[in-house]
Amino acid sequence: MCGIFGYVGNQDAVNVTLTGLKKLEYRGYDSAGIAGFNGVSGEVKYCKVVGKISRLEEELNKLDLHLNTAIAQTRWATHGKPNEVNAHPHFDTSGSLALVHNGIIENHDALRKMLVAKGCIFKSETDTEVVAQLIGSLYEGDFLAAVQHALPLLHGAYALVMIHKDYPQQIFAVASAAPLVVGIGEQEAFLSSDVMALKAVVKEVLHLANNEVAVVRADQVETFDASMAKIVKTRETVSSDAEEISKGDFEHYTIKEIFEQPKTLNAAIASRYNEDYGTATLDGLHMDVTELLNVQRILILACGTSWHAGFIGAYMLEDLARIPVQVEISSEYRYKNPIVLPGTYVIAMSQSGETADTIAAVEELKAKGAKILALCNVHGSTLTRLADGCLYLRAGPEIGVCSTKAFTSQVVVLFLFTLLMARMRHMGKAEGQALLQALKPLPDQVQQVLEEANRIQQLAKDYSHYDNFFFLGRRHMYPAALEGALKLKEISYINANGYPAGEMKHGPIALINEQCPTVALCANKAVYTKMLSNLMEVKARNGRILAVASSDVDGLKDIADDIIWVPETIDELAPIPTSVALQLFAYFVARERGCDIDQPRNLAKSVTVE
Ligand code: G6P
Repeated sequence: MCGIFGYVGNQDAVNVTLTGLKKLEYRGYDSAGIAGFNGVSGEVKYCKVVGKISRLEEELNKLDLHLNTAIAQTRWATHGKPNEVNAHPHFDTSGSLALVHNGIIENHDALRKMLVAKGCIFKSETDTEVVAQLIGSLYEGDFLAAVQHALPLLHGAYALVMIHKDYPQQIFAVASAAPLVVGIGEQEAFLSSDVMALKAVVKEVLHLANNEVAVVRADQVETFDASMAKIVKTRETVSSDAEEISKGDFEHYTIKEIFEQPKTLNAAIASRYNEDYGTATLDGLHMDVTELLNVQRILILACGTSWHAGFIGAYMLEDLARIPVQVEISSEYRYKNPIVLPGTYVIAMSQSGETADTIAAVEELKAKGAKILALCNVHGSTLTRLADGCLYLRAGPEIGVCSTKAFTSQVVVLFLFTLLMARMRHMGKAEGQALLQALKPLPDQVQQVLEEANRIQQLAKDYSHYDNFFFLGRRHMYPAALEGALKLKEISYINANGYPAGEMKHGPIALINEQCPTVALCANKAVYTKMLSNLMEVKARNGRILAVASSDVDGLKDIADDIIWVPETIDELAPIPTSVALQLFAYFVARERGCDIDQPRNLAKSVTVE
């Protein structure tokens, strides 16, 4: 949610910063801007545009701007419309200070009034400009002192990166409850919201946290606490596995990532099971056998697609491991006063590891003494550093804003965790081995679904003119229906309702007519006939039905108008082939409607504000 990048050194800072910023575009793309200095003279140069980074690049080419110190931002609008005035960087009234921000300043209104009364002249509607004006108004020749005085006045979450005309070869940075990483190179230094954008350029980084301040020069990085006492932070080594991020031969990252799933599922499973014992072998839990046996209940926390994966995991854990599970949406949970009973184990799920609501909920639970396991895709992200243990998804960088391959990996990793917990309790070896026998062919089964892409594309064409959809499922297929509906909403902007099929008769069925088709998730054997009855109720009201199913017992063919066939598997894993089919469906509907699939309007991949 807003990406920040900064550079000081001998290279062309405009090029370096644009390259870094492009890697952060998944965090928002409402507007983009850059500010910096060329040489040692302290005149702040800047450029801002509405829209994507490519627009900023076009503008910069026209300006022929060269800088050797620069800060830049790609914005996901919170306070103020996405126009040029509200684009970052923001300045103090004198124009001496330029600042970019990721986060939300909650008391911006009170601060703005106070600063206006002191004579500050505001240009934008943003909370960010308030910070620029505040620090500018406190500046009396010592920038660090101004920052020190400003920090206690700011309420909210922020990563701030700043330059000031009196310090043309320095960048100042502060972070509080928002990610910010300093990359340390040879006679150059970088700042980024995500370590991923630094992988190709540095070997060592520092993560800033808790009101820590960094003064970044090409040849030196100093760090301070909020009272401006110097602190020494441990440098972390960045793995050099900078994976090539490209679309390859695909039109969009989203479709590339959908097609990667046989590979990513194999990676999620590889070396994580033992067939002889019919169990899972999971490195990274950092819990010994006694601790795992003492787990009495599990709390799963997540947002968005990760929450849907967690919801599927809850069915598995209760059914197979017989452990009571509560699944919570982090943004709701964090404002409860949760009862954390002894023996509660928390699983926090997040593709990015940076979702502010999940992180805040985890911090609250840590303070209450709970043990936390992260299920995460991004190495070194904030969540992985907070948690006691971590199971990585191994899905590789997910660039498309809507989550696809991370979701299926999350379900598989939860399945393995369930197997481990079940085998440590009551489950016999043969049952464990049978579950592994079902898991092993899953990547190939997903490949079979992908081979149906052309037919799914035809169906998508046929359904793309509808403006309302229902997605129905029962048991494990209920969260899968929520996820199928979310995919369609996110990338095609169609109103899609995920609902438990048995609950339709309690109200939503009133919406069914020939203009509102139903996508029916029928690949769950335990409730298959119940689903058919629910579909008869839809059919009786002239609703068109597109079923996703793995068998045609009891006459599904006579009920559904169209069917996408997926390979048969156990109920616990059935959401995976079904979800891949629905990802393809959403993708092709969105393509048919001409939507911006990789960067859907109003969304950002990593939501670092509440
Ligand atoms: C955003 C993304 C979703 C994602 C959600 C949670 O809303 O657009 O695709 O599911 O955040 O993200 P996380 O990184 O915590 O899984």
